[in-house]
Amino acid sequence: MRIAEMKTGTTIIDGKAFAAEMRGRVAEQVSRLKTEHGITPGLAVVLVGEDPASQVYVRSKGKQTAEAGMASFEHKLDADTTEAALLDLLGRLNADPSVHGILVQLPLPRHLDSARIINAIDPAKDVDGFHISNAGLLATGQKAMVPCTPLGCLMLLKAHLGNLSGLQAVVIGRSNIVGKPMAQLLLGDSCTVTIAHSRTRDLEDIVRRADIVVAAVGRPGMVQGSWIRPGATVIDVGINRVEGQDGKSRLVGDVDFPGAAETAGAITPVPGGVGPMTIACLLANTLTATCRANGLDEPEGLTA
Ligand code: GUN
Repeated sequence: MRIAEMKTGTTIIDGKAFAAEMRGRVAEQVSRLKTEHGITPGLAVVLVGEDPASQVYVRSKGKQTAEAGMASFEHKLDADTTEAALLDLLGRLNADPSVHGILVQLPLPRHLDSARIINAIDPAKDVDGFHISNAGLLATGQKAMVPCTPLGCLMLLKAHLGNLSGLQAVVIGRSNIVGKPMAQLLLGDSCTVTIAHSRTRDLEDIVRRADIVVAAVGRPGMVQGSWIRPGATVIDVGINRVEGQDGKSRLVGDVDFPGAAETAGAITPVPGGVGPMTIACLLANTLTATCRANGLDEPEGLTA
């Protein structure tokens, strides 16, 4: 089914357009920081190894960082880099005043302890929001660096629904990168939140009760269209490559899009939904970190 053929009244949430508008606002603020304060926000991205998907993400991050007028520092390390060498690099980036944000691309090679590496980043420069301090600040409702993908989802939800207070939300997936921080953000906006995962019983019943469904499990089409409550808002975080009937590969989400779009009030497509929001939020977090590091007011509308 093409988007134009869907039942009237279903909004297709255009994350691509929203992200472009957000990057424009970030670029304006960056330009203002440069002219008024002589400060150029800097983002360091560290990639260990040659994972093809990670290489694509890192390239895209570097490009969009530069397009926003920020300084982009890329550190590409061999797959057999030792933990000591990586920790040494992070120590230098933590101490470098031209670096306001640090991101270590995940997943890391198996011989490296991700938690130890992430927790070696200065929490003030942790633009991924993965450091244990930022996770704790978010969980306790304090000012934190917020993980980019859930932040992007929250922005799309608020742009579409306005006030989220009292709504029933289900987050499917319990990862530290998406599921858990997403649930914290929704709770912070006074939703009633259920976190579902691979062991959850009666997932269908839980989804049927939800005003908001956030799917982040990494299983193509796992959430069936018939489960969606009429009028619900569906945010699909999944990016799964599958082979189509024509033998060509294409990207699909965790939600059966054509089926869900029949009943949902609004839904994000894949691609073009949540995906572009992640890097836009990374740039916004880098700008926020720069403002905080320099004791300047934070830009409005770019944090949770
Ligand atoms: N790998 C997949 N998503 C992410 C992300 O948001 N940040 C980092 N650092 N690595 C990732």
